[in-house]
Amino acid sequence: YERKDGRPTKQRLLVVANRLPVSAVRRGEDSWSLEISAGGLVSALLGVKEFEAKWIGWAGVNVPDEIGQRALTKALAEKRCIPVFLDEEIVHQYYNGYCNNILWPLFHYLGLPQEDRLATTRSFQSQFDAYKKANQMFADVVNQHYEEGDVVWCHDYHLMFLPKCLKEYNSTMKVGWFLHTPFPSSEIHRTLPSRSELLRSVLAADLVGFHTYDYARHFVSACTRILGLEGTPEGVEDQGKLTRVAAFPIGIDSDRFIRALELPKVQDHIRELKERFAGRKVMLGVDRLDMIKGIPQKILAFEKFLEENPSWHDKVVLLQIAVPTRTDVPEYQKLTSQVHEIVGRINGRFGTLTAVPIHHLDRSLDFHALCALYAVTDVALVTSLRDGMNLVSYEFVACQDSKKGVLILSEFAGAAQSLGAGAILVNPWNITEVASSIGYALNMPADEREKRHRHNFMHVTTHTAQDWAETFVSELNDTIVEAQLRMRQ
Ligand code: G6P
Repeated sequence: YERKDGRPTKQRLLVVANRLPVSAVRRGEDSWSLEISAGGLVSALLGVKEFEAKWIGWAGVNVPDEIGQRALTKALAEKRCIPVFLDEEIVHQYYNGYCNNILWPLFHYLGLPQEDRLATTRSFQSQFDAYKKANQMFADVVNQHYEEGDVVWCHDYHLMFLPKCLKEYNSTMKVGWFLHTPFPSSEIHRTLPSRSELLRSVLAADLVGFHTYDYARHFVSACTRILGLEGTPEGVEDQGKLTRVAAFPIGIDSDRFIRALELPKVQDHIRELKERFAGRKVMLGVDRLDMIKGIPQKILAFEKFLEENPSWHDKVVLLQIAVPTRTDVPEYQKLTSQVHEIVGRINGRFGTLTAVPIHHLDRSLDFHALCALYAVTDVALVTSLRDGMNLVSYEFVACQDSKKGVLILSEFAGAAQSLGAGAILVNPWNITEVASSIGYALNMPADEREKRHRHNFMHVTTHTAQDWAETFVSELNDTIVEAQLRMRQ
């Protein structure tokens, strides 16, 4: 690839996602402090070797004044990030409203919200209008930074309208779109009032990717059944134009976790945790506090296990890390109180003066504390009601090479398709089944644990986030070359 001035350079990758991978705190009129979140996705996307990547997204803060916007833009540029500024009203309607109150629950099979199902078509419509407006604002920023030859990779349900906006601006732009959540059955998707418009906008992309083959299949059938288009083994065809649709299961940066376990700081944490929970088996849940994660169901299953197994009462503890998220959305506020109530009841019922069966934390842990926790865990409980992939299950496996603990995994998480042979798969709605799986996991003989762990560890360390990103982008480039060849024929 050549720049405009003729200098050879790496191909540029513009990653567009709702959120930038930073937390930005304003320190003064024109000063910001930034912390880059060093998660697997960030290193995967900013670390693809053949590309020079930039990240475009919302910084998660309201910056109404120009001085603040200019200063933040400058500070972010050093981190290869470009901000999209969204005002409070747009955030309310687009992010809290359309994204997190409508699309998120729908894509996770929780249906449309009751209020909208009744008479609030106006509010539904105004949220959808804000969604389109926000997507257009993302597109405007992409357009300002786009150079010929760049690859533009749009992410997630927040930006389903973006491929269309980008192609309207420049039909030769290379556009990929990837969904990090499930794509539901077409029978669910068809309840959405704006179902067709969203599908058509996504189809404007050259390549559309999902975590699993099932999600890709659901998307193709939504396009055939709702839009009446033709589904082919390659994707979806509309008047001779093919949009390629395929599965690209994401992974983690497993080395980062494995290396962290060697750090003295993490070793210290591990020692402390072992002392603290000596004589008890440790069970662990790490989730955003979201209804799709099935936290109440998981805790009820643990209660049932305790009820049926009195001999385990003082020999097992459940540590539940519940990271607050989307706290302005009423559904999330309700869930928080519900979980607190259940935890309180169970601890009241089974606790003693010196110990409780559940430690519930409403906050995130830093990376090193989290690695230590994964490493000392005997049984991890990932019991999402629906989950696009679920990387907590991967992170746990990466940290378990010495302990070889057991993973109990929901069959409704995308990860069940890759870690299914090593994990104990459960239906999270079936509390009796989850309770008995807890018993099975706690009593599992070492050779079975070893065998199951081997399978999962092999998978997690060979299917990394980096591979995922490279595969998607090279497939996108190939798709475009193939389309050009087809045009010439
Ligand atoms: C899911 C979504 C992401 C989102 C994350 C955190 O993993 O797929 O797009 O960023 O949840 O949610 P939040 O609303 O806090 O960004």
